[in-house]
Amino acid sequence: MDTQVIVIDEHNIDADKIRVAGKIIRDGGLVAFPTETVYGLGGDGLNPESSKRIYAAKGRPSDNPLIIHIARLEDLYPIVSEVTEDVLRLAEAFWPGPLTMILPKSDRVPYETTGGLDTVAVRMPEHKTALAFIEAAGGYVAAPSANTSGKPSPTMATHVIDDMQGRIDMIIDGGAVGIGLESTIVDMTEEVPMILRPGYITQEMLYKVLGEVTMDKTLMGEDTKEAPKAPGMKYKHYAPKGDLTIVEGSEEAVIQQINALICKGQARGERVGVIATKETMDYYKADVVKCAGSRQCEEEIAHGLYAILREFDDDEVTLIYSESFESLGMGQAIMNRLLKAAGYQVIHAE
Ligand code: TXA
Ligand code: MG
Repeated sequence: MDTQVIVIDEHNIDADKIRVAGKIIRDGGLVAFPTETVYGLGGDGLNPESSKRIYAAKGRPSDNPLIIHIARLEDLYPIVSEVTEDVLRLAEAFWPGPLTMILPKSDRVPYETTGGLDTVAVRMPEHKTALAFIEAAGGYVAAPSANTSGKPSPTMATHVIDDMQGRIDMIIDGGAVGIGLESTIVDMTEEVPMILRPGYITQEMLYKVLGEVTMDKTLMGEDTKEAPKAPGMKYKHYAPKGDLTIVEGSEEAVIQQINALICKGQARGERVGVIATKETMDYYKADVVKCAGSRQCEEEIAHGLYAILREFDDDEVTLIYSESFESLGMGQAIMNRLLKAAGYQVIHAE
C-alpha cells in the first residue's frame, strides 16, 4: 500500500487537505494524525471493518480496546448510554485535552472498537489539526497510538513513518507533539472514578474536580496478582531493544552504581546506554548518554522520553540504565511508562 504523507500546520490548517484525510476515514481507510499527547492511528470508530484494520496495521491484539476521539461534546451522547454530572464536570474542566474517560457504551459502538467490552473510551484532543480532521472524518475517530505494538508511542511524524509506512493510507505530519506521553485514562464506570493510566492530567487535578478518585494499584509496579483494568496496560509496551533497568536512590549513589554497571557490562562486550538528566549527564562513562531533560521540569522529561527510547534502538545499545524519577504529579506518568519499558526491573543503589 502507498502511504501518502502530508504536512498540515496546526496554526494555518489547509481545509482541502483535511477534507481529503476525512474522506479516507469515511471510506473505511486509515490515517495517522497528530494530537497533543502522541500521534494516533485513526479509523472510523463506528465501522467494525476500520477497527479490524487498525489492529492489523499495529499488529495489536484485538482484545485491547481503542479510544474514540470526538471533536464536540454533543457527539459524546450518541456513543454512550449514560452521561453523569461527574462526566460533564470532567469534560468541562479538561476537554479538549489529554483526558480519556471510560463510559458505558451505546449500541452505536461496535464491539470491534471496544475489544468486546461494554464500555468505551472517549477523548476530545486539544490539537487543532486533530479536531478539524475528526470533524471531517464524521465525528468518531478510533485511534490507538500510531506505533507498531510494543514500540514507544510516536511523538514525531518520522516515528510514525518508521512504523506505519506501507500499512496505512495517509500520515498527517504536524511536527513534534506537545506532551509526549499518552492521555490520562479515568474509568467513570467505577463506583469511585479510577485512574487506569496516569498522564498529564494528574490524580490531584482530577481530585479537585471529582472530590474522590482512586488509582489502579497495579500501575506503579506494586506487587499484585490482579491484571491492570485497562487491557493495554498489561502488555510489555514501549520496550527498547536494549535491556533497560531503572536505578533508584540518592543522586550520588545512582551515579556510582550506574558507572559500576557500565564497567561490568562493557567488560562483557555490551554496548551501554544511560538515560540521565541535565544535572547528572556529565558524570557517566557510557557508550551513549542521553539527557532526558532537567529534573526541574517534568514536562521536558515527558516530552523527550519516547524519542530517547527509540533512538537507543538506532544506537544499537544492548544494555540501558535509567535514573529514576519522583512518582508525584506528572512524574507518576513518567515512572509508569519507564517501569513498563523496563519490564519493572529496578535496582536500588545504596
Ligand atoms: O493520548 C492518547 O490517549 C493516545 C492518542 C492517540 O489519543 N491514544 C492512545 O491509545 O494512547 P492506545 O490505544 O495506545 O491506548 C489506549 C488505552 C489502552 O491501554 C486500552 O487498553 C485502554 O486505553 N482502553 C481503551 N478502551 C478501554 C475500555 N473500554 N476499558 C478499559 N481500558 C480501555
Ligand atoms: Mg499505545
